[in-house]
Amino acid sequence: MKKVQQHYDEVADIYDERYDGSRGKYYHGHISDHVMRELPKDGFLLDVGCGTGLFVQRYVEEGGRAVGLDISPGMVRHGRQRCPESGFCVGTADVLPFKDATFDALASLLAFSYVPDPEGMLRECYRVLKPGGRIAVCTLSRTIFTSIVPVVYQMGEKVGLKKVGVGDFDEHYYTNVEIASLFREAGFEDVSVGRCSFAHLNLADPVFNLARKVEPIIEEKLPYLAYNVCAAGKKPKE
Ligand SMILES: C[S@@+](CC[C@H](N)C(=O)[O-])C[C@H]1O[C@@H](n2cnc3c(N)ncnc32)[C@H](O)[C@@H]1O
Repeated sequence: MKKVQQHYDEVADIYDERYDGSRGKYYHGHISDHVMRELPKDGFLLDVGCGTGLFVQRYVEEGGRAVGLDISPGMVRHGRQRCPESGFCVGTADVLPFKDATFDALASLLAFSYVPDPEGMLRECYRVLKPGGRIAVCTLSRTIFTSIVPVVYQMGEKVGLKKVGVGDFDEHYYTNVEIASLFREAGFEDVSVGRCSFAHLNLADPVFNLARKVEPIIEEKLPYLAYNVCAAGKKPKE
Protein backbone atom coordinates (compact mmCIF):
# COMPACT_ATOMS: atom_id res chain seq x y z
CA MET A 1 0.00 0.00 0.00
CA LYS A 2 1.30 3.46 -0.86
CA LYS A 3 2.23 5.64 2.11
CA VAL A 4 0.00 8.53 0.97
CA GLN A 5 -2.97 6.17 0.63
CA GLN A 6 -2.38 4.80 4.12
CA HIS A 7 -2.15 8.34 5.52
CA TYR A 8 -5.40 9.53 3.95
CA ASP A 9 -7.17 6.34 5.01
CA GLU A 10 -6.05 7.08 8.56
CA VAL A 11 -7.21 10.72 8.53
CA ALA A 12 -10.35 10.24 6.41
CA ASP A 13 -12.66 10.47 9.44
CA ILE A 14 -11.14 13.76 10.62
CA TYR A 15 -10.42 15.32 7.19
CA ASP A 16 -13.64 17.31 7.03
CA GLU A 17 -13.09 18.82 10.48
CA ARG A 18 -10.21 20.75 8.89
CA TYR A 19 -12.43 22.22 6.20
CA ASP A 20 -15.77 22.41 8.00
CA GLY A 21 -15.04 25.17 10.50
CA SER A 22 -15.56 28.72 9.26
CA ARG A 23 -11.92 29.29 8.27
CA GLY A 24 -11.63 25.84 6.65
CA LYS A 25 -14.76 26.51 4.60
CA TYR A 26 -13.38 29.89 3.62
CA TYR A 27 -10.00 28.44 2.58
CA HIS A 28 -11.42 25.56 0.56
CA GLY A 29 -14.20 27.70 -0.90
CA HIS A 30 -11.63 30.24 -2.05
CA ILE A 31 -9.59 27.63 -3.90
CA SER A 32 -12.76 26.13 -5.35
CA ASP A 33 -13.79 29.60 -6.65
CA HIS A 34 -10.50 29.84 -8.55
CA VAL A 35 -10.88 26.36 -10.04
CA MET A 36 -14.58 26.82 -10.82
CA ARG A 37 -13.85 29.97 -12.84
CA GLU A 38 -11.74 27.92 -15.25
CA LEU A 39 -14.30 25.19 -15.95
CA PRO A 40 -17.59 24.92 -17.85
CA LYS A 41 -20.41 24.97 -15.26
CA ASP A 42 -22.93 22.53 -16.64
CA GLY A 43 -20.57 19.81 -17.90
CA PHE A 44 -19.46 16.35 -16.79
CA LEU A 45 -16.48 16.64 -14.41
CA LEU A 46 -13.78 14.28 -13.20
CA ASP A 47 -12.13 15.36 -9.92
CA VAL A 48 -8.75 13.61 -9.53
CA GLY A 49 -7.65 13.23 -5.90
CA CYS A 50 -11.21 14.14 -4.90
CA GLY A 51 -10.80 13.35 -1.20
CA THR A 52 -14.12 13.52 0.64
CA GLY A 53 -15.88 15.07 -2.36
CA LEU A 54 -15.86 18.76 -1.37
CA PHE A 55 -15.34 19.96 -4.95
CA VAL A 56 -17.58 17.26 -6.46
CA GLN A 57 -20.36 18.66 -4.25
CA ARG A 58 -19.59 22.24 -5.31
CA TYR A 59 -19.59 21.35 -9.03
CA VAL A 60 -22.92 19.52 -8.75
CA GLU A 61 -24.44 22.42 -6.79
CA GLU A 62 -23.46 24.72 -9.66
CA GLY A 63 -25.40 22.60 -12.13
CA GLY A 64 -22.94 19.98 -13.40
CA ARG A 65 -22.50 16.22 -13.05
CA ALA A 66 -19.36 14.82 -11.47
CA VAL A 67 -17.26 11.75 -10.75
CA GLY A 68 -14.48 11.62 -8.14
CA LEU A 69 -11.38 9.45 -8.11
CA ASP A 70 -8.99 9.04 -5.19
CA ILE A 71 -6.22 6.67 -4.14
CA SER A 72 -7.66 6.35 -0.62
CA PRO A 73 -10.70 4.07 -0.11
CA GLY A 74 -11.35 5.85 3.21
CA MET A 75 -11.66 9.26 1.53
CA VAL A 76 -13.80 7.80 -1.27
CA ARG A 77 -16.18 6.31 1.32
CA HIS A 78 -16.75 9.83 2.71
CA GLY A 79 -17.22 11.20 -0.81
CA ARG A 80 -19.95 8.66 -1.49
CA GLN A 81 -21.71 9.68 1.75
CA ARG A 82 -21.45 13.38 0.89
CA CYS A 83 -22.66 13.04 -2.72
CA PRO A 84 -24.64 9.79 -3.11
CA GLU A 85 -25.85 10.88 -6.53
CA SER A 86 -22.29 11.15 -7.93
CA GLY A 87 -19.91 8.37 -8.92
CA PHE A 88 -16.71 7.74 -6.93
CA CYS A 89 -13.92 5.27 -7.53
CA VAL A 90 -10.62 4.26 -5.98
CA GLY A 91 -7.68 4.66 -8.34
CA THR A 92 -4.45 6.49 -9.07
CA ALA A 93 -4.16 9.73 -10.98
CA ASP A 94 -1.84 8.33 -13.65
CA VAL A 95 -4.10 5.40 -14.68
CA LEU A 96 -7.63 6.75 -15.11
CA PRO A 97 -10.24 4.00 -15.56
CA PHE A 98 -12.32 5.92 -18.13
CA LYS A 99 -12.72 5.83 -21.89
CA ASP A 100 -11.12 8.47 -24.12
CA ALA A 101 -13.06 11.76 -24.45
CA THR A 102 -15.49 11.14 -21.56
CA PHE A 103 -15.41 14.44 -19.62
CA ASP A 104 -16.03 18.15 -20.32
CA ALA A 105 -14.06 19.25 -17.28
CA LEU A 106 -11.15 17.99 -15.21
CA ALA A 107 -10.28 19.32 -11.73
CA SER A 108 -7.66 18.48 -9.15
CA LEU A 109 -7.41 20.38 -5.86
CA LEU A 110 -4.56 20.02 -3.35
CA ALA A 111 -3.55 16.60 -4.72
CA PHE A 112 -1.11 17.21 -7.62
CA SER A 113 1.87 17.64 -5.26
CA TYR A 114 1.54 13.97 -4.21
CA VAL A 115 1.47 12.49 -7.69
CA PRO A 116 4.83 10.81 -8.42
CA ASP A 117 4.29 10.88 -12.21
CA PRO A 118 2.77 14.30 -13.03
CA GLU A 119 3.41 13.85 -16.78
CA GLY A 120 1.51 10.55 -16.63
CA MET A 121 -1.40 12.17 -14.78
CA LEU A 122 -1.68 15.04 -17.28
CA ARG A 123 -1.42 12.60 -20.20
CA GLU A 124 -4.34 10.66 -18.74
CA CYS A 125 -6.34 13.84 -18.04
CA TYR A 126 -5.83 14.88 -21.67
CA ARG A 127 -6.96 11.46 -22.91
CA VAL A 128 -10.23 11.38 -20.89
CA LEU A 129 -11.19 14.99 -21.73
CA LYS A 130 -13.38 15.65 -24.76
CA PRO A 131 -11.86 17.94 -27.45
CA GLY A 132 -12.50 21.48 -26.20
CA GLY A 133 -12.71 20.21 -22.59
CA ARG A 134 -11.03 22.22 -19.83
CA ILE A 135 -8.69 21.34 -16.97
CA ALA A 136 -7.83 23.23 -13.75
CA VAL A 137 -5.29 22.09 -11.16
CA CYS A 138 -4.69 23.88 -7.86
CA THR A 139 -1.69 22.74 -5.82
CA LEU A 140 0.98 24.08 -3.48
CA SER A 141 3.50 26.26 -5.25
CA ARG A 142 7.22 26.36 -4.56
CA THR A 143 8.08 29.56 -2.71
CA ILE A 144 10.44 30.55 0.08
CA PHE A 145 7.55 29.94 2.52
CA THR A 146 6.55 26.49 1.28
CA SER A 147 10.12 25.24 0.92
CA ILE A 148 10.22 24.53 4.67
CA VAL A 149 6.86 22.69 4.72
CA PRO A 150 8.24 19.22 3.84
CA VAL A 151 10.82 19.52 6.63
CA VAL A 152 8.13 20.52 9.16
CA TYR A 153 5.90 17.65 7.99
CA GLN A 154 8.77 15.14 8.21
CA MET A 155 9.42 16.28 11.78
CA GLY A 156 5.68 15.98 12.52
CA GLU A 157 5.75 12.40 11.30
CA LYS A 158 8.80 11.59 13.45
CA VAL A 159 7.02 12.78 16.62
CA GLY A 160 3.87 10.83 15.67
CA LEU A 161 1.60 13.81 14.87
CA LYS A 162 -1.64 12.56 13.30
CA LYS A 163 -2.76 15.60 11.32
CA VAL A 164 -4.13 15.90 7.80
CA GLY A 165 -1.25 16.09 5.32
CA VAL A 166 1.50 15.72 7.91
CA GLY A 167 4.07 13.14 6.81
CA ASP A 168 6.98 12.50 4.48
CA PHE A 169 5.35 11.85 1.10
CA ASP A 170 8.08 13.07 -1.24
CA GLU A 171 5.75 15.86 -2.36
CA HIS A 172 6.69 18.18 -5.19
CA TYR A 173 5.66 21.84 -5.13
CA TYR A 174 5.55 23.68 -8.47
CA THR A 175 6.67 27.03 -9.81
CA ASN A 176 4.39 28.77 -12.32
CA VAL A 177 6.86 28.05 -15.12
CA GLU A 178 7.18 24.36 -14.22
CA ILE A 179 3.45 23.66 -14.12
CA ALA A 180 2.77 25.67 -17.28
CA SER A 181 5.35 23.67 -19.21
CA LEU A 182 3.92 20.38 -17.91
CA PHE A 183 0.49 21.46 -19.19
CA ARG A 184 1.87 22.46 -22.60
CA GLU A 185 3.91 19.27 -22.94
CA ALA A 186 0.73 17.26 -22.26
CA GLY A 187 -0.87 19.02 -25.25
CA PHE A 188 -3.10 21.60 -23.54
CA GLU A 189 -3.56 25.02 -25.15
CA ASP A 190 -4.62 28.43 -23.77
CA VAL A 191 -2.57 27.58 -20.67
CA SER A 192 -2.86 30.13 -17.86
CA VAL A 193 -1.24 30.07 -14.44
CA GLY A 194 -2.22 32.21 -11.45
CA ARG A 195 -1.54 32.22 -7.75
CA CYS A 196 -4.04 32.09 -4.91
CA SER A 197 -4.27 31.75 -1.10
CA PHE A 198 -2.51 33.89 1.45
CA ALA A 199 -4.59 33.26 4.60
CA HIS A 200 -3.37 29.89 5.88
CA LEU A 201 -5.54 27.71 8.11
CA ASN A 202 -2.80 27.22 10.68
CA LEU A 203 -2.30 30.93 11.38
CA ALA A 204 -3.42 32.29 14.75
CA ASP A 205 -6.84 34.01 14.63
CA PRO A 206 -5.85 37.70 14.41
CA VAL A 207 -3.15 36.96 11.81
CA PHE A 208 -5.55 34.78 9.81
CA ASN A 209 -8.19 37.53 9.79
CA LEU A 210 -5.67 40.10 8.63
CA ALA A 211 -4.24 37.74 5.99
CA ARG A 212 -7.78 37.09 4.74
CA LYS A 213 -8.41 40.83 4.37
CA VAL A 214 -5.27 41.44 2.33
CA GLU A 215 -5.58 38.22 0.30
CA PRO A 216 -7.26 39.84 -2.76
CA ILE A 217 -4.56 42.52 -2.86
CA ILE A 218 -1.78 39.93 -2.55
CA GLU A 219 -3.29 37.81 -5.33
CA GLU A 220 -3.59 40.77 -7.66
CA LYS A 221 -0.53 42.88 -6.86
CA LEU A 222 1.98 40.56 -5.13
CA PRO A 223 1.05 37.08 -6.43
CA TYR A 224 4.48 35.61 -5.63
CA LEU A 225 3.45 35.82 -1.95
CA ALA A 226 0.41 33.56 -2.50
CA TYR A 227 1.20 29.92 -1.82
CA ASN A 228 -1.08 27.91 -4.13
CA VAL A 229 -0.68 27.78 -7.88
CA CYS A 230 -3.72 27.32 -10.08
CA ALA A 231 -3.06 26.17 -13.66
CA ALA A 232 -5.69 25.84 -16.35
CA GLY A 233 -5.86 24.82 -19.99
CA LYS A 234 -7.95 23.42 -22.80
CA LYS A 235 -7.74 20.28 -24.92
CA PRO A 236 -7.69 21.54 -28.51
CA LYS A 237 -10.84 21.02 -30.59
CA GLU A 238 -10.25 18.46 -33.34
C1 LIG B 1 -5.17 17.23 0.63
S1 LIG B 1 -6.24 16.01 0.01
C2 LIG B 1 -7.27 16.96 -1.11
C3 LIG B 1 -8.61 16.31 -1.32
C4 LIG B 1 -9.61 17.11 -2.12
N1 LIG B 1 -9.16 17.34 -3.47
C5 LIG B 1 -9.94 18.40 -1.44
O1 LIG B 1 -9.73 19.45 -2.06
O2 LIG B 1 -10.41 18.40 -0.31
C6 LIG B 1 -5.21 15.10 -1.13
C7 LIG B 1 -5.92 13.91 -1.74
O3 LIG B 1 -5.14 13.40 -2.82
C8 LIG B 1 -5.26 11.99 -2.81
N2 LIG B 1 -4.14 11.42 -3.58
C9 LIG B 1 -2.82 11.48 -3.29
N3 LIG B 1 -2.09 10.89 -4.25
C10 LIG B 1 -2.97 10.45 -5.19
C11 LIG B 1 -2.83 9.76 -6.43
N4 LIG B 1 -1.62 9.40 -6.91
N5 LIG B 1 -3.95 9.45 -7.13
C12 LIG B 1 -5.17 9.80 -6.66
N6 LIG B 1 -5.37 10.46 -5.49
C13 LIG B 1 -4.28 10.79 -4.76
C14 LIG B 1 -5.25 11.65 -1.33
O4 LIG B 1 -5.73 10.35 -1.06
C15 LIG B 1 -6.13 12.75 -0.77
O5 LIG B 1 -7.48 12.39 -0.72
